[in-house]
Amino acid sequence: MNKDMLQVNLPGLSLKNPIMPASGCFGFGREYAEYYDLSRLGSIMIKAVTKEKRRGNAMPRVAETPSGMLNAIGLQNPGIEGVIEELKWLEQFEVPIIANVAGYTDDDYAYVAERISASPNVGALEINISCPNVKEGGITFGQDPEIAYKLTKKLKEVSSKPIYMKLSPNVTDIKVMAKAVEEGGADGITMINTLIGMRLDLKTGRPVLANGTGGLSGPAIKPVAIRMIHEVYKTVKIPIIGMGGIKTAEDVLEFLYAGASAVAIGTENFINPYACVDLIEELPEVLKRYGFSSVQEAIGFSHKLGGK
Ligand SMILES: Cc1cc2nc3c(=O)[nH]c(=O)nc-3n(C[C@H](O)[C@H](O)[C@H](O)COP(=O)(O)O)c2cc1C
Repeated sequence: MNKDMLQVNLPGLSLKNPIMPASGCFGFGREYAEYYDLSRLGSIMIKAVTKEKRRGNAMPRVAETPSGMLNAIGLQNPGIEGVIEELKWLEQFEVPIIANVAGYTDDDYAYVAERISASPNVGALEINISCPNVKEGGITFGQDPEIAYKLTKKLKEVSSKPIYMKLSPNVTDIKVMAKAVEEGGADGITMINTLIGMRLDLKTGRPVLANGTGGLSGPAIKPVAIRMIHEVYKTVKIPIIGMGGIKTAEDVLEFLYAGASAVAIGTENFINPYACVDLIEELPEVLKRYGFSSVQEAIGFSHKLGGK
């Protein structure tokens, strides 16, 4: 295989391949490092970091669903100082890190973005304005274009690293949100976060999750992700890192066709801990089978054909 075949360059990120674990589905990599060398990954999107340490929501906070799962973890994390230590541990691997930043106010986001930008192995920040599982902040930033625009602008001022805004699918028109963050100066977009869902217990009539609702992820949401990426690609010029239900190398190719320049794997890591490295190994053969000699050639392929 030609090494350059999988190479992708994005703002702040020189990726040896377009595959990375999605935030919240890989922790800070410690558990997965027991299975394989993390340097094989294109990047790692680490778990959301907030200013203060968070214990997350009450249990139960995950539930299975057909072709997916619901989660309401509630941004459990060791806080910015703890995450900076995790980043030091990650320095032993040759892999650029994407730090997922969350908060409740603009100032929270700005504080964390500024602090975490200083870590040498952080290539870019992913701003989580789409977490459906916390009461304040999170998704409220991701559902109002004016608020998302202002936050993006503010973070561009304080962060020395490129900013990727993580969009929520829980909006009427994702194009409006994409445009807003592009105008705010975002360097890229990551999408999609989870779709708000609920399961009820038939014996008690109560929600299965202690939080009531949770975020739906896994193969069930893939067609929604593809549709939204397809729309956003036509709307903005900044690159997209796509996610939502990826399981196979064919799924990766479909995301590239829709307009993603790279992809993240979430729920599948829980089913197969080798998911990311399996995809890295399988992708060249799938690219060749469909007539592509590089990832680059396949990005936005669906849009080069004309029509819908
Ligand atoms: C258990 C769990 C925890 C997650 N935690 C985060 C998080 O901390 N920050 C974030 O931006 N997204 C988080 N996500 C969303 C994923 O990064 C991803 O956007 C979503 O799950 C869709 O991809 P998938 O279908 O491949 O899982 C989480 C998802 C799951 C399942």
